[in-house]
Amino acid sequence: MELRADFPIFRDSTGEHPLVYLDNAATTQKPQTVINRLTEFYAHENANTHRGLYPLSLVATDAYENARVVLQKFINAPSADEVIFTRGTTEGINLFAYSWGRTFLQAGDEIIVTEMEHHSNIVPWQEAVRATGAVLKWVPVKDGELDLDVYDSLLSNKTKLVAVGLVSNVLGTINSVKEITARAKKFGALVLADGAQAAAHMAMDVQDLGIDSLAMSAHKMYGPTGIGALWVRGELLDTMPAFMTGGNMIEDVRHDGAVYQTRAHKFEAGTMPIAEVIAMTPMIEWIQNVGFEKIRAIEDEVTRYAMEKLGAIDGMIMYGTKNLSHRAPVFPFCLSDVHPHDVADTLGSMNICVRAGKHCANPLHNALGVAATTRASLAIYNTTDDIDRLVEGLNEVKRIYE
Ligand code: ALA
Repeated sequence: MELRADFPIFRDSTGEHPLVYLDNAATTQKPQTVINRLTEFYAHENANTHRGLYPLSLVATDAYENARVVLQKFINAPSADEVIFTRGTTEGINLFAYSWGRTFLQAGDEIIVTEMEHHSNIVPWQEAVRATGAVLKWVPVKDGELDLDVYDSLLSNKTKLVAVGLVSNVLGTINSVKEITARAKKFGALVLADGAQAAAHMAMDVQDLGIDSLAMSAHKMYGPTGIGALWVRGELLDTMPAFMTGGNMIEDVRHDGAVYQTRAHKFEAGTMPIAEVIAMTPMIEWIQNVGFEKIRAIEDEVTRYAMEKLGAIDGMIMYGTKNLSHRAPVFPFCLSDVHPHDVADTLGSMNICVRAGKHCANPLHNALGVAATTRASLAIYNTTDDIDRLVEGLNEVKRIYE
């Protein structure tokens, strides 16, 4: 496949067991253009941003701020100063939960989360309710999808925020966040969407979704690790106190206090991962050059093939919705009684990369009634050949363990 050639890790992987990378929900591989940008920055452009008055620093600052505008357009945010660079989704949600949660939540207020959330969209809210006396409510999962009837019954004037993933990192379910948001808004609740697992697969238009905040990670969308973003609606962001303080986020510091910068800059304390921010520009350009329509079409084709081939394996139990229009390319499964770690270990010995365990989603696994699953997750460069290799690997697992 032509697109696959952009990823050096596949070009370099030859021999008896060439790489079959099916752990994209954990992190995606990086195209050459992103790798080149990191190298170019460190080799030829390295300087700190927003500090130096010399050309090297001014150029770095321009590239850094340009990435903010590129990201703003990518998610259709009204303004670039609403886009905060963070270390990733986890930091973004923690930032929001800490800053907004501890400022505005009161005893008896309610936050709604779902049973299919990643721990990073659960634990920060558990901490926020612990600190404030607010209460956490849970939307259950039914047949791989959120039970929206229960969601309706949980909504009330006490609901202050709904925290929901656009795509489940385990089940691959594409949640109807636009609908979930419309229902929350009837009660005046805010909505924070976890975009970590959606960003590589579908367009995220924050204005169309009607949400108040969106968190995302670059490394799950073909970009560098250690960088991501949190978008917060401007008027809301203006009410939120700083999360971390120090250099870069201040206007002035005196003996008796400090004056902070505004909007996104108030939340970027210290030296940021500058090269990684700048490399988000080619990352987004690469995705946009392919286009989400093509991404969805290619991933859908491989998804259908995978569902058919995996489903035909004797002893296979697959989890998640069968409605493929609500499904990103993520497949959790159990194979007979073989422990998922043994499945992943045997596949690993054949250079087939999957994840095994609870995938940072213990409440979901409890709800599914399984201790652990094996998860194969796809990206744009995966092909039906990768699925054939996975099926071969699973047959080898059966040969060894059954
Ligand atoms: N959140 C990542 C995953 O689901 C690490 O694997």
